[in-house]
Amino acid sequence: MRRFVLLVHRVPSNGAFTLNDLAGGAGRMDEVARAVSTAFTVSNDLRRDTQAILLFAGSGPSAAGRRITVSGARVRYLNPDERSTAALLKNALVRAADFPREFESSPGIVAGPIDVGQELRRLAMEPGGVWLTEGGTLWRSRPPVGPPTTFFLSDPYEPTEAEQAILVAAGLPTVSLGPRSLRTSQVIDLVHHELDLAEAGAA
Ligand SMILES: C[S@@+](CC[C@H](N)C(=O)[O-])C[C@H]1O[C@@H](n2cnc3c(N)ncnc32)[C@H](O)[C@@H]1O
Repeated sequence: MRRFVLLVHRVPSNGAFTLNDLAGGAGRMDEVARAVSTAFTVSNDLRRDTQAILLFAGSGPSAAGRRITVSGARVRYLNPDERSTAALLKNALVRAADFPREFESSPGIVAGPIDVGQELRRLAMEPGGVWLTEGGTLWRSRPPVGPPTTFFLSDPYEPTEAEQAILVAAGLPTVSLGPRSLRTSQVIDLVHHELDLAEAGAA
């Protein structure tokens, strides 16, 4: 199982955004949707061994923490394009705003309320996690041992100081995919690439 934990900072967590302004008023939902699409889609297929956990901090005065878990083993209606992926996630957020507990908003997509700090701490304390960051140890020079199963990364905004403190306190090794600061979706592609090669015995 490959798992990505994505920290999402400015997307309105009640789903109150328009699909026509994903990169603006939606708080860079375009990149979040692209990251989800990249995590699961390959040419004419889906990665069934992958899970993505999105931790939405929310933004604005009525910000509320939400978690959306996308499971490749079950997910349906996930297409490669950003807009339809954003629509699936928006639907989950909108319905979660009126629901006190976790529920399945569409097959393979589960949404619910959380405290982002607590949830991040819980996930970071599980074995097999690494923190993907530009300043980490270069994967190619020293591949993470384990191999890792959970990859923590951020949307286009840096993890907050509180989030960074949680990741540091959990003792997560830091791993870099290269010297450039990459887009979230590009990082996910490269992680899959490294793991695909390792599984094929080619790395
Ligand atoms: C667009 S970057 C975050 C913002 C960027 N650091 C900045 O200064 O604006 C999105 C996330 O991808 C991950 N990332 C970006 N480049 C990376 C790299 N070279 N190696 C590993 N992770 C990387 C980090 O988790 C980062 O927070």
